Amino acid sequence: MVTAAPLAQLVDAYRQAGAGPFSPAAGMSAWQRKVSPGNGGQERSCSDCHGSDLTRPGRHAKTGKLIKPLAPSVNPRRLTDRRKVEKWFRRNCRWTWGRECTAQEKGDFLSYIAEQ
Ligand code: HEC
Repeated sequence: MVTAAPLAQLVDAYRQAGAGPFSPAAGMSAWQRKVSPGNGGQERSCSDCHGSDLTRPGRHAKTGKLIKPLAPSVNPRRLTDRRKVEKWFRRNCRWTWGRECTAQEKGDFLSYIAEQ
């Protein structure tokens, strides 16, 4: 369930953009999907940096730096700041998939992450 206020606001904005309903299962499979970012680049996925178990720390694929877990169950500060979430969606979708994510994809990601 998507409950925290900033999260609910984000999800509402995606609905207003015509997206939804959102599915944690779709979010999870998109998380693992390997996509080429274009220009013949190597295929990438969200799990390259964040891992597939979101309750555990990730490791940045380029810099090797640790990334704190994304799961709100172990890291309550996650998904509490709309601007931060949007900023990182923009950056990470571009880096990983070579384009911005759609409102549908972002809603699916959030419903997946929120359950972890
Ligand atoms: C190249 C490494 C990398 C990849 C690949 C990556 N991320 Fe991230 N992501 C980061 C970093 C770095 C941060 C910011 C540091 C932090 O918050 O710990 C971040 C933060 C986030 C946040 C902010 C969460 C919050 O509320 O604090 C979300 C959401 C997110 N990423 C989703 C995604 C999604 C979805 C994908 C796949 C499309 C993805 N990331 C792929 C490195 C990556």
